[in-house]
Amino acid sequence: MAYLLYFAMRKTVLILDFGSQYTKLIARRVRELKIYSEILPFNTSMKKIKEISPSAIILSGGPSSVYDREAPSISKEIFELNIPILGICYGLQLIAHLLGGKIESTKKREFGFAKIKKVKETEFLKGVRDGSQVWMSHGDEVVKLPEGFERTAYTDNTPNTVIENNKRRIYGVQFHPEVVHTEEGKKIFKNFLYRIANIKPEWTMESFVDTSVKKLKEVIGNKKVLLGLSGGVDSSVTAVLLHKAIGKNLIPVFVNTGLLRKDEEKILSEEFKKLGIRVRKVNASSLFFKKLKGVREPERKRKIIGKTFIDVFYKEAKKLGKIEFLAQGTTYPDVIESTSVKGPSAIIKSHHNVGGLPAKLKMKLVEPLRELFKDEVREVGKILGLDDWFIRRHPFPGPGLAVRILGEITRARVKKLQEADFIIREEVKKAGIYDELWQAFGVLLPVKSVGVMGDKRTYENVCAVRMVVSSDGMTASWYPANYEILNNISTRIVNEVRGINRVVYDITSKPPGTIEWE
Ligand code: XMP
Repeated sequence: MAYLLYFAMRKTVLILDFGSQYTKLIARRVRELKIYSEILPFNTSMKKIKEISPSAIILSGGPSSVYDREAPSISKEIFELNIPILGICYGLQLIAHLLGGKIESTKKREFGFAKIKKVKETEFLKGVRDGSQVWMSHGDEVVKLPEGFERTAYTDNTPNTVIENNKRRIYGVQFHPEVVHTEEGKKIFKNFLYRIANIKPEWTMESFVDTSVKKLKEVIGNKKVLLGLSGGVDSSVTAVLLHKAIGKNLIPVFVNTGLLRKDEEKILSEEFKKLGIRVRKVNASSLFFKKLKGVREPERKRKIIGKTFIDVFYKEAKKLGKIEFLAQGTTYPDVIESTSVKGPSAIIKSHHNVGGLPAKLKMKLVEPLRELFKDEVREVGKILGLDDWFIRRHPFPGPGLAVRILGEITRARVKKLQEADFIIREEVKKAGIYDELWQAFGVLLPVKSVGVMGDKRTYENVCAVRMVVSSDGMTASWYPANYEILNNISTRIVNEVRGINRVVYDITSKPPGTIEWE
């Protein structure tokens, strides 16, 4: 299976990941300054680093101590590349350690806010206010500087908070400039990238669209590309980008699993029709319901849906004859997930993906969004004409409403949840909080409770309402919805949805809960 990668000639900032929970944030901050950044694991070979030929390198933080037996490290050769280097937290300690300085464990782990005091004005700290607040999280500190370095800022607890070797363009900060709690973090990145590394802010989504379209045309030529449209933002943006590049040679296929949100198919059709893109639709809902009959266990549901989806898609693809390429809406967070330094993590849920497809179909994979973060994907969608409300829609899981219907999946139960879910989204939009939320949805519970309506006893299902805020879905907080929203949702669901007579609100964050109930 051949993977297509897109390497345009562009200035890249390479971020070497030592396992910090903030590494992704560093990449975000660099991108916000309109410079392309990429995260690779700390043990990336020097050969690969030279191939990438980055314009600057940032060493992330990490949980280790440089004297740990298995401490992650890098080759000293990196300092001979004559590329500006910035070490953050563990990155700073590693620089000091490798270049002959000394690190010691602090008497008290420093965690939280601190104020930096500048020793002098430098290019690196230019414009950063004396007394500016920074965010610390470390157990070790540099006690002896390597030769050629000077300290340019300190805090009450950390004498060597910022160290610089201006001649060799190597810098280190003990605090985390990437987190919002560091007031002038952006200024520090700006100084390092614009002033010291001399990189121009040229990474814009307009330029991304231009280069991608050119590349896609070049690579695909006159051949055809198949794309599975899920209705979500990523696959939709992949479609419009490919359509711009290869027009009618893109064949988007939309599989209706019967497990979608209310009117999903209609919304998608209209949006694409407006853009002049023809979508091939397959209604496979009967098959999905048949396969899911009697299945209650969450993981089995997920597995069945994943497999059925692949079968349906495969059958449809076969009808189209030989097609060389398969496009997927993979984005940068998916790529980071599979390449970064990871702690041991158990599989909580098998995520629905179509990973088995390219091999089964013997197709080459095209993933034009694999370099982009979600907000960048949205921006590309906007540039290419997708409606604003369409690209701001909340994420929707691959297995659809099946993981929000606890117990057995039937058409009737899907319909019930679709109606309730529609009301929830309508009320959330009406209240003006839709964009604040990562997701807002309903969950149909497999229990019944007694109620009273118009003097009559009712015995119906319960619907749980879930609203969460999150920046990436990895962690989430339940949303403190106000009384009015909750009241409107509850009243409307009980009045308008037949078969639901009780509404409850989910007040569990992630962790310990997950966002979806199954
Ligand atoms: P959990 O429930 O694991 O969900 O906290 C985290 C985020 O991922 C979405 N999700 C999925 N997305 N395929 C997807 O594409 C899946 O199988 C899947 N399961 C959960 C979920 O909606 C939330 O935003």
